[in-house]
Amino acid sequence: MNRSTLALAMMATLVTSGISLPAAGQTHQHEHMQMEAAPPTEATRQPVKFPSQLREHELANMRDHLSTLAQIQVALSKNAIDEAAGLAEKRLGMSSFGLHGAHEVAKYMPKGMQEIGSEMHRAASRFAVEATNAGATGDLRPALAALATVTQQCVACHAAYRLK
Ligand code: HEC
Repeated sequence: MNRSTLALAMMATLVTSGISLPAAGQTHQHEHMQMEAAPPTEATRQPVKFPSQLREHELANMRDHLSTLAQIQVALSKNAIDEAAGLAEKRLGMSSFGLHGAHEVAKYMPKGMQEIGSEMHRAASRFAVEATNAGATGDLRPALAALATVTQQCVACHAAYRLK
């Protein structure tokens, strides 16, 4: 048996024994994800039931959250620090509570979900403060770290919960 027929034989053994080899693209993706746990699936994310009107409302808020993150990044890239801080505070921070009807939806959320939501609002307000500080110090890094904490709350909640 030469090397290539040996390799083929080994492949055949793997295939028939049901061991799957990752495709090239998957291997690459795996490298990026090796620091994280397995991606959450429908089975591992806890389903949460909202009344249908609130569900629509909450998903619209979510799309606004994403749009706000993008606008904050654009503002930062233009050194429009006050604008970035204002967007974060008004649309994601503690001041956004009334805006998004957070009190109304909170009662349908499991405790862990409520906590991540509150942490997101706090982190956004912290970012607003750090961004304002950066205007004086010229060092944007603490603000960028605070912004990452905001995004991490989006990630944490989406990993743990889904709407029914
Ligand atoms: C406290 C929990 C929580 C936090 C925090 C959170 N989300 Fe969500 N988000 C959800 C849930 C639950 C869904 C519905 C997902 C599902 O059912 O698969 C959702 C859905 C979304 C969607 C899809 C909307 C649609 O129309 O389907 C977007 C976009 C989104 N979130 C963006 C964000 C961004 C950006 C952040 C952070 C700034 C964020 N979310 C923070 C819970 C959260």
